[in-house]
Amino acid sequence: MAFKVNDNVTWVGKIDWELRKFHGEELSVHKGSTYNSYLVRGGNKTALIDTIWRPFAREFITELKKVIDLSEIDYIVANHAESDHSGSLPELLREIPDTPVYCTNAGVKSLRGHYHQDWNFQPVKTGDKIDLGSKELIFVEAKMLHWPDSMFCYLTGDNILFPNDAFGQHYASEYMFNDLVDQDELYKEAIKYYANILTPFSKMVTAKIKEVVGLNLPVEMICPSHGVIWRKDPLQIVNKYMEWADHYQENQVTIIYDTMWDGTRRAAEAIASGIKEANSSINIKLYNAARSDTNDIVTEIFKSKGILVGSPTINKGILHSIASLMEMAKGLNFQQKKGAAFGCYGWSGESVKMINGMLEEAGFALINKDGLRMLWNPDEEAIADCVAYGKEIGAALIS
Ligand code: FEO
Repeated sequence: MAFKVNDNVTWVGKIDWELRKFHGEELSVHKGSTYNSYLVRGGNKTALIDTIWRPFAREFITELKKVIDLSEIDYIVANHAESDHSGSLPELLREIPDTPVYCTNAGVKSLRGHYHQDWNFQPVKTGDKIDLGSKELIFVEAKMLHWPDSMFCYLTGDNILFPNDAFGQHYASEYMFNDLVDQDELYKEAIKYYANILTPFSKMVTAKIKEVVGLNLPVEMICPSHGVIWRKDPLQIVNKYMEWADHYQENQVTIIYDTMWDGTRRAAEAIASGIKEANSSINIKLYNAARSDTNDIVTEIFKSKGILVGSPTINKGILHSIASLMEMAKGLNFQQKKGAAFGCYGWSGESVKMINGMLEEAGFALINKDGLRMLWNPDEEAIADCVAYGKEIGAALIS
């Protein structure tokens, strides 16, 4: 499948309807994804921007040959070395081995590290360009958005930004343009993508957007490497990224727990009722971490001003769904969010202290340094303590 983005740019990627996990098993993608590759004809010369994931390499080459004789590709641009974009390079370069590959210096290292090939690398820096005849492709390094090698490029004349992973979504759709798809679905996937992939790099997101805006280049379209193309009001997603990168939070608290015999679940619900009493406007969401999608919970944490994390004690530790989630939260380096812990215990009772430590390590400011521990299954008195704890949390989250 291929389609024209405009008269000069053709999409030659792959819609992966079956994909449900990305980055190995790390990231859920409920609506599949797309790997976007673009063929740019500039009058005299033709450039291919990125390829697609290795399992589809043969299909990619077959489809690409229907659009162009491969020998007519003058330049290959590798905006990012991660294998969902570079995975078809070995197959492609077996057919056109001398074609220059434009990427950053870090991209050369990364591509060599992945494929151990001595391709015709042409390292570029911000401001370098290639002449396509009537148009140019200008390169902009985008270090840590989201890998050291990441790069954007910009097509003059057509005023199209190709930002690779930035502004993408894991969202399979035959429509492929932002104005044609369901807006709720689109933004649900865009914010999940930001929360789970770009959160740790928010400072760089802000700085890079300011840098690119400072270049005063008109942007008529944004063609990311995943999901739909931003054709209608393309700067809407840039403005959204500025918002998300700036310690984003909604008026929301998320209670995340795991439970063995329902004690910690009952505590979670009692805490929720206390929060509601003290702070009636806040959106309270509860998730059993063992029964919910971890990446969807991460998105809810991203949207929250505070979280509560609960686990009973087991074997002097905590339940593994909570341990796993907190490890992910630590890596994402959330900023300016509050946290609190709770959990049942029968004898040793370490869970709350452990969760407090994990919350602090992940950058959450503790609302209550002790947290709330309940001995055995909460009785009426313990449930009342949970409600009181919820009131304290709710009051602390009034902005
Ligand atoms: Fe879509 Fe960083 O790869």
